[in-house]
Amino acid sequence: MLVVHTKEELAEQIAEWRHSGDHVALVPTMGNLHAGHVSLVELAREHAERVVVTIFVNPTQFGEGEDFDTYPRTLERDKRRLKSTPADLIFAPDVETVYPFGVEAATVVSVPGLTEEFCGAKRPGHFDGVTSVVARLFAIVQPDVAIFGQKDYQQQLVIRHMTADLSIPVQIITGETVRADDGLALSSRNSYLSDEEREIAPQLHGALEFIGRELQNGKRNYEDLESSAIVRLNAAGFAAEYVSIRRAENLEIPDRDCDELVVLAAARLGPARLIDNIVVTI
Ligand code: PAF
Repeated sequence: MLVVHTKEELAEQIAEWRHSGDHVALVPTMGNLHAGHVSLVELAREHAERVVVTIFVNPTQFGEGEDFDTYPRTLERDKRRLKSTPADLIFAPDVETVYPFGVEAATVVSVPGLTEEFCGAKRPGHFDGVTSVVARLFAIVQPDVAIFGQKDYQQQLVIRHMTADLSIPVQIITGETVRADDGLALSSRNSYLSDEEREIAPQLHGALEFIGRELQNGKRNYEDLESSAIVRLNAAGFAAEYVSIRRAENLEIPDRDCDELVVLAAARLGPARLIDNIVVTI
C-alpha cells in the first residue's frame, strides 16, 4: 500500500491505474481509523479495482472551541490498520496542499437548505467546511465512486446534493453504520468517553431503536416520540441536542403516511458529541 502526501505523487499513480483501465474509489476520512472505516474501504473495493483512502483533518469543518487541535492524528496506526484491507493508497496531504491559497482565502462550497438544521444548526459553518473539502478531494483524486458512512446521515445527503447540483461525475455510495456489540455506533470521538460514559453511551442507539419499534407499531405522534426520547436521554446523563423523525429521502417533516423515515439524534456525553441515526422502513 502506497502512502503519498502530494498531489503530484497521487496524480502519477492514478494516471497509471487509469491507463490500465482501473476504476478508482475514494474513501475520505479524518483518520483515527476504526472498524467502521475498514467496512467503507471493503465496500469501496466492491465498486472499483483501486481504493484511495484520504486522511486529512480538515480545519474548515471545525468551529470555534471545537476539537480541531486535539482531534487524534494517528497516521502510523492508520497505516497499519489499512494494511490488511483492500486499500491501495493513502493520500495524507497537509493543509497547504488542500487549501493552496490558505484557509482564509479558500473558495467555499455551500449547500443551502439541507444544512440549516440538526448538525448544521448546532455547528455553524460545519457543512460548508465538509462540502468545501469534499469538492476539493473530488477534484484532486477524480474518483469514479466515493463512499461515506450512514452514521453521518445528514452529511451524506448534503454531499449527494452537492454532487448532483454541480454535476460532479462521482457516484456516491453510503455504507452502513458499524456498531459495537452493545449498539454504540463506532466513531473516532468515542475515545473521548470515560469508562462510565462509555457504559451510558449505547443508550443513544437504544433511544433510536425504541422509536423505531414504536413507529413499526403504528405510532405516528412524532413530536411526542421525539420529546420523550430527549427526556430519557437527559435522565441517563446525556445533554441531548436533538432527536428528530424525518423523511429519509430529504430530511423534510414527514406526514403520517410517510413509509421511509430516518430517526436522527445528537447528544453530548461528557466531552464527546455523539450522533447516530436509524432508517425505519414501515
Ligand atoms: O466524515 C468525515 O470524516 C469528514 O466529514 C469527511 C467526509 C472526511 C470530510 O472531512
